[in-house]
Amino acid sequence: MSIKTSCSDNGVYPPFCELASSNDRVFAEFRRNPVYCGVVETVSYAAGRDYLERILLQSKAWSRQFSEFSKNDVVGNPLVFAYRYGLLKRKQCTFAPTTLRYIKVLADMKALFGVLDNMRIAEIGGGYGGQCAIVSRVFRPARYTIIDLEPCLRLARRYLEASGISDVTYVTIGELDEAGARPAYDLVISNYAFSELSRSVQDEFVGKVIAGASRGYFMCNFATHTWEGDQYSQHEMMELRRDARVFRESPPLSVIDREAKVALVVFGGEVIDGWVPEIGRA
Ligand SMILES: C[S@@+](CC[C@H](N)C(=O)[O-])C[C@H]1O[C@@H](n2cnc3c(N)ncnc32)[C@H](O)[C@@H]1O
Repeated sequence: MSIKTSCSDNGVYPPFCELASSNDRVFAEFRRNPVYCGVVETVSYAAGRDYLERILLQSKAWSRQFSEFSKNDVVGNPLVFAYRYGLLKRKQCTFAPTTLRYIKVLADMKALFGVLDNMRIAEIGGGYGGQCAIVSRVFRPARYTIIDLEPCLRLARRYLEASGISDVTYVTIGELDEAGARPAYDLVISNYAFSELSRSVQDEFVGKVIAGASRGYFMCNFATHTWEGDQYSQHEMMELRRDARVFRESPPLSVIDREAKVALVVFGGEVIDGWVPEIGRA
């Protein structure tokens, strides 16, 4: 019997990813399949509106990229919604709400870490590659490595190739070299993934990926998804880095993330006006 490595490693979602990666008809619709919507394509219309407001509060200039970003929703047939914005709500954009979350994360990372060009980026639990695609539509990282379960990587590869995003490395944590031989990363991203892993897998990620990274952006659902009992707590994540900061308020957190008691843990990066950390330097 195989050992469960995370709450999404549940015997249903990985086989669905495998099927979606290999079957044309399933792939064409994977982003509205109930199994997939239970794990990755999870954001509601209302939460999407909240993310949109936060993107534009950070910088109205992000709206110039909206038509480029909307290419994310051409593949996998997600549910999309029209959102009105701007002065007197005269402008309109159409997005899958989850794509708005990926854009909001990009806007956060740009504010914290500046231009992401030439960075060696690792993403822990990258889903179908939606965050990778949004980052790659604006920046040219030196390398973008997605670390996920094997069947999920196959789906991410198919989605990103169909979306015209190349130069991505796909690996499982088991395939990454041990510490010492490990590649250094300039930025590690994990949205609702690291905090859902089992303790032993988290330890492997800390040793192989997180310890050597110079910056980090981790959306952590400590309150709702720490299913195993001894996974990394907020306190332990703070101990990984002396410059770690934890945010739980808005900005930067959205309403839905605050309601779910999600914490954003940041390693490195700029101090941003109005972002008040619960713990760590202001
Ligand atoms: C809740 S989803 C989040 C996906 C994506 N980060 C996002 O924001 O949409 C959790 C992710 O963790 C991945 N995952 C589960 N077990 C894993 C493991 N043992 N190693 C790496 N990734 C894993 C899942 O396949 C999925 O991509």
